[in-house]
Amino acid sequence: DPDKMDSLRPEIFDFKGVSMSHYFTNNWENIQNFQARPDDILIATYPKAGTTWASYILDLLYFGQTSKECQTSIPIYERVPFLDIYTSEQSGVDLADKLPTSPRLIKTHFPVQFVPKSFWEQNCRVVYVARNAKDNVVSYFHFDRMNFVQPEPGDWNNYLHRFMEGKLVFGSWYDHVNGWWKKKPSYSKLHYMFYEDMIEDTGREIDKLCSFLGLSPSVEEKKGITDGVQFDNMKKNNMANYSTCTVMDFKISPFMRKGKVGDWKNHFTVAQNEEFDEDYEKKMKDSTLQFRTEI
Ligand code: A3P
Repeated sequence: DPDKMDSLRPEIFDFKGVSMSHYFTNNWENIQNFQARPDDILIATYPKAGTTWASYILDLLYFGQTSKECQTSIPIYERVPFLDIYTSEQSGVDLADKLPTSPRLIKTHFPVQFVPKSFWEQNCRVVYVARNAKDNVVSYFHFDRMNFVQPEPGDWNNYLHRFMEGKLVFGSWYDHVNGWWKKKPSYSKLHYMFYEDMIEDTGREIDKLCSFLGLSPSVEEKKGITDGVQFDNMKKNNMANYSTCTVMDFKISPFMRKGKVGDWKNHFTVAQNEEFDEDYEKKMKDSTLQFRTEI
């Protein structure tokens, strides 16, 4: 029912200095009081940076050998609960509390300052994935078109400017990637990855991830994982492609949309690109982070 779907679309408002929607603020107290366990692994991203990809890699690394049955019957968004979310249908905290697995893989889109303190106190491993701003905003635009628990995106030009102003859900991309990057020197259990590197050489990035996690999969197992997480395979995989998610309309845009570096070139006009670059320079001038917008 299209009207009912549209009624799910939330407003954006300022929450502690970050643009948010009520789906990710309503459970604030419970989220802040979440009790992490030392072996929990937090997967953190700005939305659309490759969360599902990283989640599925970790899921296969830990449970690919032992729980094949789960992999064919439980969607990734239930195996890797989204801590931040609270709707009439689901609560990330409840899902995480009920997770029977060890370790628990838990996903968040929060900026670093919103992460419940027990993750830091328990010295949990954290995997952060960042994606270049241009592809990230294009992906987010198509996602907001098809996902009814996100605000109406409006037209592309307006959307792009709201991204630049940090006015999309989960706030400023610039603050997000930099906030997490600045955490790295003081927190050794943070592994900072880039979407572009994963596209360039998935196997190499899985190796680096394994060395961070202290895992040593066999050659055969690693090959199985590398194959299983290729875009075309994940797109076909109903437990990884969100096709079971009822608040999304794949006729508008599929969750597994393109999976490329450089798709922004099909969206940005020359004028938009110049304005974006100029603004980007200013916003990122104090940052040591380097992104690739093509490979
Ligand atoms: P596009 O919209 O550019 O295609 P998230 O999981 O954080 O929501 O990110 C979704 C983005 O990651 C989408 O980008 C999606 O296609 C891409 N993605 C998901 N799985 C992927 C994979 N195995 N390889 C490459 N990109 C993938």
